[in-house]
Order: sequence, then C-alpha cells, then structure tokens
Amino acid sequence: MSTNTLALLGGPALGVPQPSRHPAFEQGAIDRVVDMLERGRTVGLNRNHPEIAEAENAIAAWQGVPHCLLASSGHAALQDCLMGLEISWGDEVITTPYTWGASISCILHNNAVPVFVDVCPVTGLLDPAAVAAAITPRTRAILAVHIFGQAANLTALRAIADGHGLKLIEDGSQAHGALHAGRKVGTFGHAAGFSCMGGKLLASAEGGYMFTPDKDVYWKAALCGQHMGRSLEPDFPHERLDRYIDSLVYTYRLSPLVAVMLTEQIRKLDAEIAGRRENVRLLRAAMAGLCLFSFPDYAAGDEPSYHMLTMNVDAAAAGLAKQTVYQALRAEGVGCFQYIPSPISTWPRLHWQTYDGPKVMWTEPLRQSGIDYRSVRVPHCEQKIARSLELGWNYTVPDAAGMQRLADAFAKVEAQLPALRDWERSQTP
Ligand SMILES: Cc1ncc(COP(=O)(O)O)c(C=O)c1O
Repeated sequence: MSTNTLALLGGPALGVPQPSRHPAFEQGAIDRVVDMLERGRTVGLNRNHPEIAEAENAIAAWQGVPHCLLASSGHAALQDCLMGLEISWGDEVITTPYTWGASISCILHNNAVPVFVDVCPVTGLLDPAAVAAAITPRTRAILAVHIFGQAANLTALRAIADGHGLKLIEDGSQAHGALHAGRKVGTFGHAAGFSCMGGKLLASAEGGYMFTPDKDVYWKAALCGQHMGRSLEPDFPHERLDRYIDSLVYTYRLSPLVAVMLTEQIRKLDAEIAGRRENVRLLRAAMAGLCLFSFPDYAAGDEPSYHMLTMNVDAAAAGLAKQTVYQALRAEGVGCFQYIPSPISTWPRLHWQTYDGPKVMWTEPLRQSGIDYRSVRVPHCEQKIARSLELGWNYTVPDAAGMQRLADAFAKVEAQLPALRDWERSQTP
C-alpha cells in the first residue's frame, strides 16, 4: 500500500501534532488555589474581597476598560449585560443564528425576543446590512457574536446602533483578545460578555465576566446578577440605586477560587494568542496551493484570536459529501468537526407554535410578540454550515514542523479526490 493511499482507504495515517494541553495552570496558580482552600476562602461577595478585586482589575487592565464584573459563566455575563441595559419583556434583540445557544438563551431568559438575521457566508459573522434591514420600533439592541475568535464588524454595527438609538452587546466568549480595527473586541459595545470556562481562550474552571463603559449599567448588572453585597463596595451610588438593593437576584457571582485562576491565567494570555496566530499563519502559508479548502480573509486591523480555526471546504464542487472529506481527514488524524449544526432559528424549542416538550420560560414573550421562527430565511448561514470545517485550535506554541504536517494531511486528502469519490460511491447501497 503506497504511503499516498488515504488512511480511510487502508493506507498509513499521516499523523498530525497534538494541541497543547488546555487549560494549563502554572504552579503559581495551583499554589494559590490550594492556599485558598486551606484558608477556607471559597466565597467572595464583592470587590471588598481581595481576590475578586484583583481579578476584576487584572481583566479590566488587560481589556483596556475601566471596570469589569466577574460572573459565574459566559451565559451569566451575557445576561448581566441585558439586565444592566434593562432589555427585557417584549424587547427585540437582533442577533445571529450562527452561534452557541447561550448567545440566544441570555436573551430568552430575560424575556426578550431574539430576531435572527443572516451572516457572512465565509466567516459566519453577523451581516450589518441584514441587521439594519431588520430594525423595527420594538428593536432595543443588537447582539453580535465574535464566533471562533473572529471579530464581527463592530464599526458598522455600532454605527447602526447609534443611528437608531439601540444598544450594542458583544458576545466575546470565543474571542478574548480578537481585534477589530486594531482594538480589542468587547470595547465597542454598550456592554460585552465573555466566557472563561475551561475550553475558552482565557480558561478557568467555569466563569465569565462582563463590562460596560457605563458605570450605572455595571451597577444594575451587579444588583440583578450578583448579591446585594455588591452595594457594600465603596463607590456604590446609593443616591441613585439604593431602592434596587434586595436579594431578588440571580446568583451569578464567581467564587474567589476561580477568580485567582483568572488572575494567573491572564498573565500568559497574550503569549498564547500570539502562538495561536502564528500557527494559523504557518498553516495558511503551507496550505496556500490547495483548492478544496479555503480560509476567510479579514479586513486590515481585524485579527482573530483563534479559539477555533474555521475554514470552508468545497466538497460539493469536488463531487463529494462534506462528511466524506471529514472522514478522510479524521482517518489521517485531523480532529476536524462542524461546530454549528444548524441555524438556531430552526431549533424546535423556539417554535412555540408546535413545541410540545418540557415547559420552557420563554414561550409567553415569544407568543405575545407573534414571532414565527419557522419562516426565518438565512441562506448565507445555511451556506456557511454546508461548507464549514472547524479545528480546535489550542496550538498555543508556534510549531512550524507541526503545521506543515497538518497541512500535509489536507494536501493528501485533496490529492486523492478520485479515490475518495470511488470510496464514497462504494458506501452507498
Ligand atoms: C459564543 C458563546 N457564547 C456564550 C457561551 C456561554 O458560555 P458559558 O458556557 O461559560 O456559559 C459560549 C460557550 O461556549 C459561547 O461559545
């Protein structure tokens, strides 16, 4: 059997480099967590607790924003954004159907109404023209998701928001450190939420954070999503917000155990993001001659931080099912997958007219709004899903030889398309 024979067809697998272990904690972080456990310091209600203040200050400094509010998850951070901006019952939030469900459930759980519009078919990012076309008198906000670590077009989205008196919310859960127009994402919107669960770029155990340039939005988010203990912080504006202090709130605070992880993890985040970017540069250069696989291009000043690497595969043009290409790559050792299976607008639990599963909290606001997700048309989103191929991208240390091996696996598959077509035909009865 020739070494060129695809592993799927019985040849030897090429073998590709393994990503770095992620999350990885340095000894200093481990020692701090152990110390906290030994001292029983597992709860911190506010910034008077030193580990909470330390993490919020470290993240705010890294992001270049005045203040940050820790949260128990990315979902919690996003819902904090909506609560802080007072977006709730009946308010429409224009957003993307091409994302992780939590970008949408934060809207639903606040009794607001997600309005899905189309995305760019190459990147999967929200299409500003589609956003502008979907604005109604009920629209209160735009929620942009920086999917796979790629920055949405925040300049255009902010201009639309400002032009119509709307709020712009950013979901940066997959995109810590991604740049738009040379500036970090999260700093363009009226509020931004980020996830820090163990699989994310800034990886802890479970956690997240939100920020906003408006201190009153911050305090409202803190009062709704944290604990009334937040009002004991020295700069709490008692004169304006005292009447909102009570314990009718979500428990979205973060344990100081996780806070110390974040303080320690953020120290190495820039180096890891630089490693991810360099490896993408190396891979793209090594795959430049291939036709079956293509990468999105980005505007000057836009630089993803590569939580995952997304590319597009022209399987149909090659006369193949995309799954066949996936199978061939996986047999060579490439851990490719399709991250988003279908537009969220098609998910049955949003179809309140026909949904008959366990009771959910969002049916009534959707019913009252009359929205019918069954009629949503997002052809570019469908196109992205049909062609998309993702790789986990925890390649945080530059590895020229490894990226060449990875590129070789893609090249091997592309070089064997006739054999792959024969194999595919042989699989269909
Ligand atoms: C785009 C996006 N938004 C929100 C979230 C929610 O984050 P968490 O799981 O920390 O709640 C995730 C998590 O995967 C995500 O990928």
